Amino acid sequence: MLLFLDSANIEEIKQAHDLGVISGVTTNPSLIAQEGRNFEQVVREISSLVDGPISAEVISLNSSEMVKEGQTLAAIHPNIVVKIPMTAEGLKATKVLAKESIKVNMTLVFSANQALLASRAGAAFVSPFVGRLDDIDHNGMALVEEIVSLYGNYQLETKVIAASIRHPLHVSQAALLGADIATIPFKVLMQMVKHPLTDMGIERFLADWEKVKNK
Ligand code: E4P
Repeated sequence: MLLFLDSANIEEIKQAHDLGVISGVTTNPSLIAQEGRNFEQVVREISSLVDGPISAEVISLNSSEMVKEGQTLAAIHPNIVVKIPMTAEGLKATKVLAKESIKVNMTLVFSANQALLASRAGAAFVSPFVGRLDDIDHNGMALVEEIVSLYGNYQLETKVIAASIRHPLHVSQAALLGADIATIPFKVLMQMVKHPLTDMGIERFLADWEKVKNK
C-alpha cells in the first residue's frame, strides 16, 4: 500500500518527504484554507517537492464549471489529480476529464455504490472517508473492505485511497484489507514511526554502551 500525505502544509510535506515514505499528496479546500495562502501557489510548491500524484480539489458544483476548474488545475503540473466530489455533476465532469486523460480522485465517497459509479465514470482514484463514517457510528473500514472487494470482482482499475484517516490503526487496517493507498495526516505519520519499545531499546543499548565504551 502506498502512503500519501493529507496536507497542504509545505513544512509537513518537506519533513514527510525526507522520510522517503510518501508517494503523493492530497489536499482539500479545508486544508488549503488552514494555510491562508494562494491555492495555486501552494499546489505548485507541493508539485515541486513530491514526484507523485497531487490531488487538488475543485470548488464548483456544476459539471461544466468543474471541468474548467479541473483543466486549469491539471495545467499546473503533470502530476496534478483533480479532486471532484461524488455527485451527479461530479460524475459528469469526471467522464469529460477522464476522456481528456486528466486523472480524477473522486472524493467524499461514503458507499460502495458511489465507488462503483466513480469507477464507471472513469475516476483514477476513489476516496472513501473512513474517519467521518466512524464519527457517526458507522464502520468506515468496512467500506474500504467492500470497495476493495467490489473492484476486485470486476478488475476495475480505479485505485482505492483510504481517506479521513484518524490514527495509525486505520492505516494498518487499510493495508491489511488491500487498499491501494492511505492518505494520512502528518500527525498520524509521526505516530506510526513511534513505538515505546523502540525508545526503550535505544535507551538500553546506549546505557550498556556507556559502560564499555572506554575499555
Ligand atoms: C482526503 O482526501 C481528505 O482530504 C481527507 O482525508 C479528509 O479527512 P478529514 O475527514 O479528517 O477532514
